[in-house]
Amino acid sequence: MTTPLLFQPLRLGALALPNRIAVAPMCQYAADDGSATDWHLQHWMTLAMSGAGLVVVEATGVERRGRITHGCLGLYSDANERAMARALAAARAVALPGTTFGIQIAHAGRKASSQRPWEGARALGPKEDPWQTIGASAIPFSDGYHTPREMAEDDFADVKAAFVAAARRAARLGFDEIELHYAHGYLMHSIQSPLSNKRKDSRGGKGGVAFLHETAEAVRAAVPSSIAVGARITGSDWVEGGLVAADAVALAGALKDIGLAFVCVSSGGNSLAQKIPTGPGYQVHLAEAVKKGTGIGTRAVGMIVTPQQAEEVLQSGAADQIAFGRAFLDDPRWGWHAAQALGVDSPRPPQYERAKPALWAGAAMAR
Ligand SMILES: Cc1cc2nc3c(=O)[nH]c(=O)nc-3n(C[C@H](O)[C@H](O)[C@H](O)COP(=O)(O)O)c2cc1C
Repeated sequence: MTTPLLFQPLRLGALALPNRIAVAPMCQYAADDGSATDWHLQHWMTLAMSGAGLVVVEATGVERRGRITHGCLGLYSDANERAMARALAAARAVALPGTTFGIQIAHAGRKASSQRPWEGARALGPKEDPWQTIGASAIPFSDGYHTPREMAEDDFADVKAAFVAAARRAARLGFDEIELHYAHGYLMHSIQSPLSNKRKDSRGGKGGVAFLHETAEAVRAAVPSSIAVGARITGSDWVEGGLVAADAVALAGALKDIGLAFVCVSSGGNSLAQKIPTGPGYQVHLAEAVKKGTGIGTRAVGMIVTPQQAEEVLQSGAADQIAFGRAFLDDPRWGWHAAQALGVDSPRPPQYERAKPALWAGAAMAR
């Protein structure tokens, strides 16, 4: 039997992956002034033995003002770097052989200074230590969010420098992969999208997109070539007049020329007017357009839940790698169970070996 594609190795730039399973970045809202806590320690240790070839750490603010909430991770201080080193070392110590670690570096822009989701996800009130947000234009994401200050030229320079500085910290920490967050309505997406960037100066229109190129180029140049740099990009705003797949293809092509190794194609998050046709694999066709249009390493994400579904996406040629979000929160041993479902002998820690299906009749009863 040929090994299912999901369990075949993959190369993304310098990054050698044991399989095509990635854990998508997922905010945990558990940090303390940007610093990782014991929550991250246990979360990353658990994911490190999940069977995923790549574990991507959640959106991590490149500036303090670039965090979404007070609980978001950051990489803007030495204390942040130290705390992350501790949690990452613990995760690496228990990781299954070949497991690699990535980090998503991000700036929340006009969606920053918000409450954690379970606190309401609205703009921080006057008694909640709010901060001034920035955006391409002074347009709030929606009612209930702060109105951002329109970015001055200095802000563009500061943001680019902050991405570079955070990437350097990530490189020092030994991350194998760095992913720029260019999606979900956060700063870089809001600069790219005509729905939120109404500027008439050199940072409007194509000039806005050029800032995404510039930042990627600066980050790529700042870290060793042994680290794969990529980006999470927007396949569609799902709003009339917003970004469409062709914009994603153009951005991915430019990022490839700059030397980025991959993109993860997501969508939405920049307007409440969006009409997202949510359903199984609803963003796969956007990944496919990017992969076919550019040939860059392409990760598909979004309601890809079962191993069979993931394998079909890979077999169809629409993507090179699959990122899973909620499926791994629900079952952090998803990789083991996917291997079982697809008939592959995947590694488990030896301590847990006796629960392998071949060694334990109860496995058939368990799922
Ligand atoms: C709790 C949670 C936190 C998330 N945080 C991030 C994040 O930090 N960065 C990001 O790009 N996407 C984030 N997302 C989106 C996921 O990465 C993923 O794209 C989305 O959940 C769709 O994939 P899924 O259907 O496999 O969950 C988050 C999703 C969840 C459920």
